[in-house]
Amino acid sequence: MIKIDISNSIVKDLGDQQKKIAQYLDNIYQKNQGFYTVVDNEKFADEVIDFAAKVKGKYDDVVVLGIGGSALGPICLHQSLKHLHKNDQPQLYVLDNIDPILIKQTEDVINLKKTLFVVISKSGDTPETIAQYFYFRDLINKKGLEADEHFVFVTDAENGLLRKISKEEKIPSFEIPENIGGRFSVLTTVGLLPAALIGIDVKKLIKGAREIRDTFYSDSVEKNLPFQLAAMQYSLSLEGKNINVLMPYSQKLIRFADWYRQLLAESTGKKNTGLTPVNALGATDQHSQSQLYNEGPNDKFFIFIKVEDFGLDVEIPAIYPEESSVLYLKGVSFKKLIHTEQEGTTRSLTQNGRPNITITIDSVNEETLGGMFMLFECATAFLGEFFGINAFDQPGVEISKKITKQLLT
Ligand code: PA5
Repeated sequence: MIKIDISNSIVKDLGDQQKKIAQYLDNIYQKNQGFYTVVDNEKFADEVIDFAAKVKGKYDDVVVLGIGGSALGPICLHQSLKHLHKNDQPQLYVLDNIDPILIKQTEDVINLKKTLFVVISKSGDTPETIAQYFYFRDLINKKGLEADEHFVFVTDAENGLLRKISKEEKIPSFEIPENIGGRFSVLTTVGLLPAALIGIDVKKLIKGAREIRDTFYSDSVEKNLPFQLAAMQYSLSLEGKNINVLMPYSQKLIRFADWYRQLLAESTGKKNTGLTPVNALGATDQHSQSQLYNEGPNDKFFIFIKVEDFGLDVEIPAIYPEESSVLYLKGVSFKKLIHTEQEGTTRSLTQNGRPNITITIDSVNEETLGGMFMLFECATAFLGEFFGINAFDQPGVEISKKITKQLLT
């Protein structure tokens, strides 16, 4: 269950956007993007579940090779949901960098004979990912191991180097739908395959996403949660609040904020406009960022995520002296403390005129996480319409890829 509390948003109304919701929806539909319809097709979930069942027990380590939208979803799924795994699941590593230390350190901790490399790249040509693939492929070859037993590709159905290698060498592969870009791909095989391999219930993930997607289809502002979120982000940006701070009060959701940072930045940062995402973690960053948030420039919109139920709670033992300055901790548990601190943060920001909203989920599980992916993806699609930009391309990323290629040629 996902709820949005907008009572501290300090937005008078959601602007002209709300009058044109049907028009904006229509514009999005015209763009023929697949990220919100992919959840209607259980085929992808079935395929990855079958594959995971076939290889169960075969691998101790699963290493994802990918970057950007091909890595941030798997990283988030792992960090957010690993508490739900059974102990007999393989260890997951996601190599989303080309720092040579990371490559060597990973090589040192995995057992190649019991490792499956999941190479994820929509284009199939991204240099970081292909370089990693060559490195680990060479190790597998030198050990005399079979490539089709140790590699699986997630890539475009037709194009790119990975597809070519997959066809020529019969490396197992999964398809990323043509009309879904990297940062919108977490609910495709990009996120589902690594998730299934570590025992996450991908059908529940899809179910949670579908429920929020259904609200996105509504042309009623009250029902359409993604629209409400996007309209607030946009209205506040018109008042100079172009920085969006996403602050979950949950250790498990720290990587969700990383995932969203890419989604918001790459989708809206175009034509000299866009929103700047900032990640924060409650309660940790109260002691790092709160001063700035409360009394620094009033150029931010705060999106908090509250988790009602952590699945467990821990009492704070009453072992402090009677004269202690922390007597107020008496009878308080860690859950109560983190919830109260979150309340303290939102109230202080509101008192200082800093707009904020709170998204509350009952717990961090497959359904709520699936729902949040969809909520933020659909909101981002609306933002593209409000800003009059294409939320689905990334010319600025492509140009740096091109320059790197030229420099190495
Ligand atoms: O969102 C995007 O499109 C990018 O961040 C890509 O995911 C990233 O550049 C990796 O591309 P690819 O999946 O083609 O390897």
